[in-house]
Amino acid sequence: MAAADPRVIVALDFASAADALALAGRLDPKSCRVKVGKELYTAAGPALVEKLAGAGFGVFLDLKFHDIPRTVAAACAGAARLGAWMINVHALGGRAMMAAAREALAALPRAPRLTAVTVLTSMGAGDLADVGIAGTPEEAVLRLARLAQACGLDGVVCSPREAALLRRSCGASFLLVTPGIRPAAAARDDQNRVASPAAAVADGADYLVVGRPVTRAADPLAALGAINDEIAAAANRARR
Ligand code: C5P
Repeated sequence: MAAADPRVIVALDFASAADALALAGRLDPKSCRVKVGKELYTAAGPALVEKLAGAGFGVFLDLKFHDIPRTVAAACAGAARLGAWMINVHALGGRAMMAAAREALAALPRAPRLTAVTVLTSMGAGDLADVGIAGTPEEAVLRLARLAQACGLDGVVCSPREAALLRRSCGASFLLVTPGIRPAAAARDDQNRVASPAAAVADGADYLVVGRPVTRAADPLAALGAINDEIAAAANRARR
């Protein structure tokens, strides 16, 4: 199913531009967006982001900026110049850093959506205690999402298991971007806190980051088509 505002963001987790472009060349920008993360960006650099954007893809540049405010502001402006559709920072960089990121994009004519990572989904309660973060992972996620919202960010990247809580707490227009998506028949790989595409949509996720269930599928286009169909059916049920 093609959509004008595709909700699947295919994570192009490849080690080279050639591998990423081989898959992207088979995908339709009307059916999905794509995500360039640290692995691919480190290998292929800004030229690949420009190339994907030039081919019509909405590109989520997932570099999770976390540095002093001036540096993050300059990095966000640079990412915007590459034509990214969405960029992100790490909420643990704090209020001044997120406000500087917001400010850096404010004057741009076609600014990307600006989101924040709250707590990495790989971290559990023990990991948070190790780094001195108080409360349960859910409490930390909610606290950081509210801070990101107060700083004017457009949304957060979160686990689909936290989507319902954040949707209730942060309102209808705050973007929720959820990795950890696994269709019923797909392997979990190294992901722990997973949800199906239908469950993520029912709980209020706006955009679903999907990597291996598409990129490593025997037929990536069929896998993406099935996920888009599942999302469309769940969105219809939610509207009723
Ligand atoms: O292959 P898979 O669907 O597990 O890929 C998920 C993608 O989402 C990867 O690119 C991973 O880096 C990213 N991600 C994640 N958990 C987060 C943030 C990003 O899995 N909390």
